[in-house]
Amino acid sequence: MRITDTSDRWWKNAVVYSIDVETFADSNNDGIGDLPGLAQRIHYLAELGITVLWLMPFYPSPDRDDGYDITDFYNVDPRLGTLGDMVEVIRTAHDRGIRVIADLVINHTSDEHPWFKEARKSVDNPYRDWYVWRDTTPPDTSDKVVFPDAEDSIWEKDQTTGQWYLHNFYKFQPDLNIANPKVRDEIFKIVGFWTQMGIDGFRVDAVPFILETTGYTAAEKRQLGDPQDFLREITSFLGRRTGDGILLGEVNIPYKQQHTYFGGDRGDGLTMQFDFIGMQSLYLSLARHDARPLVKALTQRGSFPLGPESQWANFLRNHDELTLDKLTDKQREEVFAAFGPEPDMQVFGRGLKRRVPSMMEGDPRRIRMAYSLLFSLPGTPSLFYGEEIGMGENLAESGRMAVRTPMQWTSEPDGGFSDAPPDKLVAPLPTDGFSPEHVNVADQRSDPDSMLSFIRRLIFRYRQHPELGWGTFEVVDQPDHAVLVHSSRWEDHRVVAVHNFDAGGRRVEFTLTDVEPGTTLVDVFGDERLSMDDGRIELTLDGYGFRWLRVQQPGDHRLW
Ligand code: GLC
Ligand code: CA
Repeated sequence: MRITDTSDRWWKNAVVYSIDVETFADSNNDGIGDLPGLAQRIHYLAELGITVLWLMPFYPSPDRDDGYDITDFYNVDPRLGTLGDMVEVIRTAHDRGIRVIADLVINHTSDEHPWFKEARKSVDNPYRDWYVWRDTTPPDTSDKVVFPDAEDSIWEKDQTTGQWYLHNFYKFQPDLNIANPKVRDEIFKIVGFWTQMGIDGFRVDAVPFILETTGYTAAEKRQLGDPQDFLREITSFLGRRTGDGILLGEVNIPYKQQHTYFGGDRGDGLTMQFDFIGMQSLYLSLARHDARPLVKALTQRGSFPLGPESQWANFLRNHDELTLDKLTDKQREEVFAAFGPEPDMQVFGRGLKRRVPSMMEGDPRRIRMAYSLLFSLPGTPSLFYGEEIGMGENLAESGRMAVRTPMQWTSEPDGGFSDAPPDKLVAPLPTDGFSPEHVNVADQRSDPDSMLSFIRRLIFRYRQHPELGWGTFEVVDQPDHAVLVHSSRWEDHRVVAVHNFDAGGRRVEFTLTDVEPGTTLVDVFGDERLSMDDGRIELTLDGYGFRWLRVQQPGDHRLW
């Protein structure tokens, strides 16, 4: 393995960490997290070991969808700071070896964006074609809405002209028309602007909806051509502007289609995509105490081999509902029953509004096993702020807001997030067993047994063994369905990971093929050395136990 393999394709051995600036750290005590607050916490992120900071939307916004409704793509919301503050954040992160990616929300704008305000004025306004309109009564699209609690159609009648505009999300988020070359040009300008500011890439919001051509006229479809080409153009433009910038796409569709979004075998489309199918299968496996659903998903994923630039991003949690939309109804019910049986724990009829530790009923063994999986499965792990300290949620908050509570830095009731009075805080903190008194950075920082120290070790070891995220993945056969044994190898580097999905202890037995006599397995988190008998090994695991084992051939004296 050449050292440049991991540094040139840096995203393949990265650790992504996402934050919403407004809930991370408040520097001026107005109750709203801000960029100077974030800048002061970059050292914390460096200490944690993450390598990519994903900033959720920080643009000016009426904030009706937590910033995903943008009114100006070229600025920072004044509540969060200024463009100057943003440059300080990027500069400080870079100094600590952390790259910064920004949410790129180009499927839609806010209905208060000046472009839309113009567009809706008249059918011949120059901005009219920046959005998607129809002049006949739309068919029933109630099965297509993303937010069924708020919308019943993806078309909204606009009073001024009596025509309908397309909105795949909320009605205050009109969809942009990417068949319009002016819109495409503007998107390149947005990408160019932020890369010039130092941004290293983008998390691209709602990609399948951007490329969706519902409502486009035949002429527009012809003009657009293959929508995937637009993705390719953004990728290559970003490459020219930055050298090694990435696009990390939010694409929740079947693997076969995701393969197309990667640019197929050429891999010239999205650089990375979140693995929503794998995530949902992982929860089904956890719920059933059975590794098979996860294995099935990863096997299917593996049948669409990635090009050299492409990479999966794995996650257990993000800022949205924990969606279970790709499971069958029966499977979803199983996961609901295991991890969120109450109606106030569920949202949109398809997802959960809880974080991992509360779903695992605070069982540290099970929580840690889940994160060990996240860091040992093939792909790049992505964390949502607060996961590293085991934050819970506030179920009293509606929908997805339940998991978007302020970061808990100290044991004070406001979590040390802000000195503003409690009723001024951007969101209320949990008051249950996951309140700041019980879960906070300050208490965990110097405790070697804390969740924070555990995640820090996972990050460190994951970074040290790039074959884990990047190597050739295979499931090692053994008879126990409650156990997953997998191996990742790259040239002469190989790590075997063993995970127990069951609450009871297990005895695990498996055989590694093609290992030389005298090969040992070295525990990555300790020093224990296990010898093998003709590749055969037997070990015991506690309930929800796990091991990461480095395969060490005889005569291999490399230092790790
Ligand atoms: C994505 C975001 C979500 C947002 C939606 C509309 O799904 O993750 O938070 O509401 O796009 O922009
Ligand atoms: Ca503030």
